Amino acid sequence: MHLLIFLGIFAAVAAAADKPNIVFILTDDQDVALESMTPLTKTKEFIADQGVTFANAFATTPLCCPSRSSFLTGLYQHNHKAVNNSAEGGCSSLKWQEQLEPKSYGNILHGAGYRTFYAGKYLNGYGYNNTGGTQHVPAGWDWWIGLVGNSIYYNYTLSVNGTSEEHADKPEDYLTDVVKEFSLSFLRNLGEESFLMAINPPSAHDPYTPADRHREPFSDVKAPRTANFNVPVNSTKHWLLRVTPSVLPPETIDNIDEIYRNRWRTLLAVDELVEEVILELEKQGKLDNTYVIFSSDHGFHYGQFGQSVDKRQPYEFDIRIPLLIRGPGIPINQTVLDPVLNIDFAATFSDVAGIASSPTDGESFLPKAKKQKTNFDRVFYVENHGEGEDGSRRREQEECYEDKSIRSCFPDMSCKCFDSKNNTYICIRRLSDDVDDVFCEFDDDEHFVELYDIRQDPFEFENLALFGKIQVERRDAVECYMDTRNPIGECFGL
Ligand SMILES: *[C@@H]1O[C@H](CO)[C@@H](O)[C@H](O)[C@H]1NC(C)=O
Ligand SMILES: *[C@@H]1O[C@H](CO)[C@@H](O)[C@H](O)[C@H]1NC(C)=O
Ligand SMILES: *[C@@H]1O[C@H](CO)[C@@H](O)[C@H](O)[C@H]1NC(C)=O
Ligand SMILES: *[C@@H]1O[C@H](CO)[C@@H](O)[C@H](O)[C@H]1NC(C)=O
Ligand SMILES: *[C@@H]1O[C@H](CO)[C@@H](O)[C@H](O)[C@H]1NC(C)=O
Ligand SMILES: *[C@@H]1O[C@H](CO)[C@@H](O)[C@H](O)[C@H]1NC(C)=O
Repeated sequence: MHLLIFLGIFAAVAAAADKPNIVFILTDDQDVALESMTPLTKTKEFIADQGVTFANAFATTPLCCPSRSSFLTGLYQHNHKAVNNSAEGGCSSLKWQEQLEPKSYGNILHGAGYRTFYAGKYLNGYGYNNTGGTQHVPAGWDWWIGLVGNSIYYNYTLSVNGTSEEHADKPEDYLTDVVKEFSLSFLRNLGEESFLMAINPPSAHDPYTPADRHREPFSDVKAPRTANFNVPVNSTKHWLLRVTPSVLPPETIDNIDEIYRNRWRTLLAVDELVEEVILELEKQGKLDNTYVIFSSDHGFHYGQFGQSVDKRQPYEFDIRIPLLIRGPGIPINQTVLDPVLNIDFAATFSDVAGIASSPTDGESFLPKAKKQKTNFDRVFYVENHGEGEDGSRRREQEECYEDKSIRSCFPDMSCKCFDSKNNTYICIRRLSDDVDDVFCEFDDDEHFVELYDIRQDPFEFENLALFGKIQVERRDAVECYMDTRNPIGECFGL
């Protein structure tokens, strides 16, 4: 009897040991459409040049906590129900912890015998008293190094396996470096078991603080002057974009350029992390059996359409994300065009581990990365729930507006507001051989609609929703979704 149990455990461990490892590096607020991959030269050398770059990867919601919740569970926002960055909106709420944390890819792989590691930013609401404090360790993580709250570089608290660890602002407290050191330490303490690492540096999120050693570079770099950079919008875009000023004055553009440079500088520490983790994998003899994946939770914009710096919009710059992967069976230095979504990662990791997970809204991208299968035909949702003022932001914005439904309006950004309660929308994004478009309906007083043909109009100037038949189809699909919360296939009759 005892012997049988012992043999059973031994068999499970032995099986897990043969399975490929996963190292998943997820940055914060890093766009791909506006060139934020440029400073990551080592990441290019060690991942992209040794593997596959997905040229069409998307976040299905352009906001941190909802998107990270989708990465963790493989579910759309309307299914995981973390609609914004606070506990009241489901972000790391007690209900989320109870119902969804057990379904995270971490817990699923842990159940399959993987040794698991999580470090850095988790969900914005994590670690506070109303979400269980730092003693709460989400199910499935053997090593848990969770950042309390939102991204920050110094003066923060970590939960290290459920115990608070305070960090000040000495050079060695730089969070990306601390995450790197924990990652290397995990790798140096491994046995033969298969492992999963989720590495979540704060870069390139606000407050954009570079490490001391990275303050100098890129002094001539400016935010890209894309065709839609700081251009006024007209009545064909939703109301939040039309709030004055219609274009940003030169001093605000200077502030944006400085933010752009600092974002790149923060990414240099991530680049070092990627290199050192890969060299350590090699040193441990584990690199050949490891998938290393690099992505970001969503995109970012810098002055496009006269907006200042943020995300939360349904346009390409906010929803496109970088996605690089190297590992066993993946060809070297190739680009893959098949669309991949943030809801695909959980299914991909189960696929790597060779296990069936509970159903998700996504699909594994492993066959696409191996070029065994192509599926350049995909229809998906992009969803956002706008945030109103939540008290903590009040002081900064009261110089700009009294209105509590509008949020994050800062004097150094010409009071151009980032968000509003009704910046709430559902879009249907379609990519196939002959279609590349996005249709959005906003949950505002105007039920505003926007439709862009991305192939003809990559900068999304011409709102085609004002004409044509396609709008009727898309509107029906959105309404089908809004009325009944039907899955996308049902709404499209696919
Ligand atoms: C959280 O709870 C602890 C222990 O009960 C208490 O000392 C601390 O002040 C609380 N923190 C906040 C921000 O309320
Ligand atoms: C966290 O806990 C695991 C045991 O589950 C242990 O092996 C590891 O050393 C701990 N990590 C740290 C940084 O304390
Ligand atoms: C860290 O906190 C200390 C004490 O409140 C403060 O003096 C310092 O400026 C902070 N450092 C950073 C980088 O925010
Ligand atoms: C990757 O491929 C590109 C284009 O196919 C080529 O120009 C480049 O030299 C290759 N890089 C490496 C490191 O093989
Ligand atoms: C987040 O969503 C919840 C639930 O809809 C809402 O009560 C809360 O006001 C939202 N938070 C913000 C900052 O808008
Ligand atoms: C709005 O701006 C777009 C892009 O510049 C332009 O194509 C369109 O004709 C304008 N529409 C109106 C009603 O002014």
